[in-house]
Amino acid sequence: MKLKKMLVMPESIDAPGIDAGSGPYPLWGMILLRFLKSGMVFAADKSQSNLEYQMHFGANGGPHLYRGLDLLGQEVEADTRVIWREHGAHILRKGGEIYGDASLFYNTLLDAQRRIKAVKGDIYTLGERFPSRFGIGASGFCAESITTSKDECLDAWRSFINSLRIGAPFVITIVLGSTGYSAGEFTFFPAVNLTIEDVVEMFAMLPVECTAEEVRINFREGHGGTAIVVGRRIR
Ligand SMILES: C[S@@+](CC[C@H](N)C(=O)[O-])C[C@H]1O[C@@H](n2cnc3c(N)ncnc32)[C@H](O)[C@@H]1O
Repeated sequence: MKLKKMLVMPESIDAPGIDAGSGPYPLWGMILLRFLKSGMVFAADKSQSNLEYQMHFGANGGPHLYRGLDLLGQEVEADTRVIWREHGAHILRKGGEIYGDASLFYNTLLDAQRRIKAVKGDIYTLGERFPSRFGIGASGFCAESITTSKDECLDAWRSFINSLRIGAPFVITIVLGSTGYSAGEFTFFPAVNLTIEDVVEMFAMLPVECTAEEVRINFREGHGGTAIVVGRRIR
C-alpha cells in the first residue's frame, strides 16, 4: 500500500507530523512536510548529538551545512542552500538537458529550516505524552534497532501509533533478520531479529490497518532485508 493509494495527498494534512527516532538527517522530516498543509514536523530522537546534527541540516532554523570533500578531494564546508541557489541548475544538468527543478530543491531546504523541529523524545513514551496528537508519522529503523526484546519493540510501535490521530497515515521501516551491528571501534547497537511474518503478526496486535512489504536492500552486512509498513491508525 502506498500513501498515494491511501489517498494521502500532498499538502492535505492539517496537524503536525512526527518522525520517531529520526537519527541525524531530516530526511523523513522533509518527506512528511510535503503532506502537511502547514505546521511543523517534529524530528524526535533520544540522542542529543543526533539533534545537533539535525540542526546542521536545517532543522530548528539551522544552516544546512555540507561537510565533505569537493571534486578535487579538498575538505570543504558549505551551506547547502547557497550551493543550490548558485549551482542548482548546473547540478541538475545532464548533457544539455536540465532534468529537475532547482528551485524545488532550494525551497525544500528553506521549508525544512522553518518547519522541522528537532526535539529530544523517547519513542516509548510518545503515546503517553502526546496522545492522538500527530496527523502523519514516520519511524525509520528505530523500534527494532534499539533493543533485543520483541516485547519492547512492540511497546515502542504501540506508543508511536498512540501518538497519531485516529485515521492518521504512517510509514515504518524495519530491518529484518538483524543481529545488531557495530559502529566505530567500541559501539555495538542491539536489534530484534525479526522476519516479515513476525512483523505482520506484531502489527496485527496494534490498532492499525496496514500492509507490510519486504524489500531487499543491502545497506550493510548482518541483516536479511527491510520491511516497509504503511498504514493508518484506526482506533
Ligand atoms: C538505526 S537509527 C535510525 C535513524 C533514522 N531514523 C534512519 O532511518 O536512518 C535508530 C535511532 O533511534 C534513536 N533512538 C534510540 N533509542 C531511542 C528512543 N528510546 N526513542 C527515540 N529514539 C531513540 C537513536 O538515537 C537513532 O537515531
